[in-house]
Amino acid sequence: MASEAFQKVDALKEQIQSESPANHDELEQFRIAYLGSKNQIKPLFGMIGQLPNEEKKAFGQAVNEVKQLAEAKFESIKAQLDAGAEESEGTSLDLTAPGFPYRQGSRHPVTLTLNRIIDIFRRIGFDVVEDREIEDQWHNFTALNTPEDHPARDMQDTFYLKDDMEHVLRTHTSSVQARLMEHSQPPIRIIAPGRVYRNETVSARSHCQFHQVEGLYVDKDVSMADMKQTLMYFARAMYGPDVKIRLRPSYFPFTEPSAEMDVYWGLETELDHKITKGTGWLEILGCGMVDPNVLDACGIDPEVYTGYAFGMGIERQALRQYKISDIRLLFENDMRFLEQFKGTL
Ligand code: PHE
Repeated sequence: MASEAFQKVDALKEQIQSESPANHDELEQFRIAYLGSKNQIKPLFGMIGQLPNEEKKAFGQAVNEVKQLAEAKFESIKAQLDAGAEESEGTSLDLTAPGFPYRQGSRHPVTLTLNRIIDIFRRIGFDVVEDREIEDQWHNFTALNTPEDHPARDMQDTFYLKDDMEHVLRTHTSSVQARLMEHSQPPIRIIAPGRVYRNETVSARSHCQFHQVEGLYVDKDVSMADMKQTLMYFARAMYGPDVKIRLRPSYFPFTEPSAEMDVYWGLETELDHKITKGTGWLEILGCGMVDPNVLDACGIDPEVYTGYAFGMGIERQALRQYKISDIRLLFENDMRFLEQFKGTL
């Protein structure tokens, strides 16, 4: 009889412990069940009288503990729920809500190619400089030994600013050469990346806006051999040790002698034919020894110093690198195209 009574106390204690009222309604149910006028603990008190005297005290204590447990649990849960109600009035933060998805962006293939080129020249001590895209005729043409009547100045090749025939959208990054040499003395070893503009018909191979990286090295005893070695180093670093390049004699007003450099692209697919005009070779840059007239116009003594310069196109190299068939794709900002470069560094 006595052990049966004690078992009932234990069972009720466990029951109360397992309760977890989660809101005020459930808490009210809890109160009615264990603390109300017809609560489940009361009948246990009634059992005291039926127990042997020596058991009465211990049993009474056990039942009292159950009652205290119910009271304590009620008070603490009430306090929690009241605090929660206050908080939720002040804020609507839902900690269980799923997070906002982050869209992963991608670098533009022109940026990717540009970054690689910059990295390659930085390694051998070239500093990076940048300058303006709206340029005066002096820095874009005159200082670069390009006479007034040169066809490059023609409206068909150059964008002039409306109402101001003195300023142009720079047609090449060579303008940065002139700007830099005006206010610095050799040794000068820089590259100048940037956007340039030409009034050209847009096609798969050329665009009216594109990017170049200019290179300029002026010091005592700089030779054509230095230029060739530097360009060879660049081509190997950019396209791998087995790359084939060729230098063709060419003409630029600001270099003498002048050359153009091609890299071998290949002639297997239709794309190869299209991009290389059926030759297998892709022209990527113009270069040469800085014309003494240019050094002179910019305040550097051509009797003491010599230099080489080059200007390379970025878009074509991006086409080669990523097997892109049409330069126009680079400027259309079509997400389906751009997303393909996700994760490329
Ligand atoms: N500025 C020339 C061009 O845009 C490239 C070039 C740069 C050639 C420097 C020689 C020296 O075509």
